[in-house]
Amino acid sequence: MGDTYSFYEAAEGYSYMGAAVKILPPTYRWVDYRTLKPYPDIITPVALQQGLISEVRNGELDGHSILYCGPSGTGKTVLASAILTRMVHLYSSGGYVDKYDGNLRHFGGDYQYPIYRVNADHWIDEFESWKLYQFGSDTPRPPQPGINPQSVCQLLQTAKKGDWGYHPPSMLPPPLPPEYPPVLILEELDKFSPSDFKCRALEGLMNAVFEQRGMIVSTSNYTKDQLTKRFPDWFYRRLVESSGDHKRRLRDLYSMLS
Ligand SMILES: Nc1ncnc2c1ncn2[C@@H]1O[C@H](COP(=O)(O)OP(=O)(O)OP(=O)(O)O)[C@@H](O)[C@H]1O
Ligand SMILES: [Mg+2]
Repeated sequence: MGDTYSFYEAAEGYSYMGAAVKILPPTYRWVDYRTLKPYPDIITPVALQQGLISEVRNGELDGHSILYCGPSGTGKTVLASAILTRMVHLYSSGGYVDKYDGNLRHFGGDYQYPIYRVNADHWIDEFESWKLYQFGSDTPRPPQPGINPQSVCQLLQTAKKGDWGYHPPSMLPPPLPPEYPPVLILEELDKFSPSDFKCRALEGLMNAVFEQRGMIVSTSNYTKDQLTKRFPDWFYRRLVESSGDHKRRLRDLYSMLS
């Protein structure tokens, strides 16, 4: 039941549910963390679903990185999508105190929320074609994926300059208020063969997000054991082990269902 939708784009600040919908594939566009209920037709027991939904709805996972691993069809992508709608809701309804002048500001309609949804496999393919492009070949160099380590770092650099002015949509994304760190939904971690190059590419993206105190929400059909065997040690630790004030959580549906 894999979701192979490859579209990724930063959520834009027009209307918040519209923004969430825009970056969700059509089959998950109905998801809204505020109305999500357990679904009796999947193997995940209703009470367990209730717990997993509640922790998203109550904000217990806000700012946390989280990895949902479990068998196919257990509702992992629905939960990751629910987190996405919550973050879009929070980012679009909240104001933030501008640390440069102390005024309360709101995101303008032209703001691109730093919330992204990426299919890991597709992202790596696109990054690989860009990175390994042979200069001098007949075809033009393909573009970098819409979200890449550089673009995530630029959010931070512009934020540091303290330039909070109006930005036409055609320009770079407006600066990122530090209270609104990037959110990356990383789907289908199991769908690529983890060569060293691919893991490093993904690591670059993940590090860029973590450097801005961002959160990464990922889903995988691999068991915890498979994840630790197939990926380098550091990769798994980066996903689920808390470090400093960065909270990371594992929701292992394999163990919860057994
Ligand atoms: N709370 C819910 N309400 C309604 N439908 C749900 C709910 N949870 C899951 N579903 C439906 O059940 C199916 C499986 O859910 P989902 O795609 O999230 O599973 P998954 O764990 O991500 O599977 P895979 O590992 O194959 O990607 C989907 O059709 C989804 O729409
Ligand atoms: Mg899924």
